[in-house]
Amino acid sequence: MVITIDGPAGAGKSTVSRLLAKSLGFHYLDTGAMYRAVAMFALREGLLQDSDQLAERLPKLQLAIDRGQVWLDGIEIKDTELRTAEVTAASTLVAAKSFVRNWLVEMQKQIGNSGNFVTEGRDQGTDVFPEAVCKFFLTADPRERAKRRLEEMGAAGFNPMPSMDEMVASIVDRDTRDSSREKGALRAASDAIVVDTTALTKNAVVEKLEREARSRIDGVGVQ
Ligand code: C5P
Repeated sequence: MVITIDGPAGAGKSTVSRLLAKSLGFHYLDTGAMYRAVAMFALREGLLQDSDQLAERLPKLQLAIDRGQVWLDGIEIKDTELRTAEVTAASTLVAAKSFVRNWLVEMQKQIGNSGNFVTEGRDQGTDVFPEAVCKFFLTADPRERAKRRLEEMGAAGFNPMPSMDEMVASIVDRDTRDSSREKGALRAASDAIVVDTTALTKNAVVEKLEREARSRIDGVGVQ
């Protein structure tokens, strides 16, 4: 059984997905981390502008993920490496390439269908798991999202830190790119429950989602 959580950058998806998965006893899949991993690979190999080479090399890349932890060709990638401004910007660029999406979507389907999962991203309820039993779409005001991202980065020890204005600009730019691409665009599925988290605490969001999820799960029964 799959529960999907989609939404723009900084809407609180990762924290909420993790907590929801824990309270339901589900596994958790951070699909953004997979796009970030491909971006890291493309940057490292100098292939960000070379789609032909990237398309050729990608199938040979060993990408493993467990929750938000990623391994590239067997080497563990630190969270701080995966979340630099450079990798963040590059992740949106690789995410616009159809061959990257096809490769990752196939992997996400295999993982999601192997057990009970909360999966989070941009296209989980629309393209990847359209049959999911419960779908959420989290939104929040861009300034609130920027504030949350800065707090997360501060706690993770990022140095130097971007300013508030830089963070808002980066979030708005990513929203525009993520919403306007042809494949896997950021949008709420027609049957998704949309939750504006701007004025809600993390715990209030998790409680709300858990109530909804449990009522759906009770309706179909967890396999
Ligand atoms: O969620 P996160 O900020 O880590 O995602 C990084 C980037 O990966 C996003 O800006 C988006 O372009 C891309 N992404 C995507 N589809 C997903 C998850 C992430 O295109 N399912």
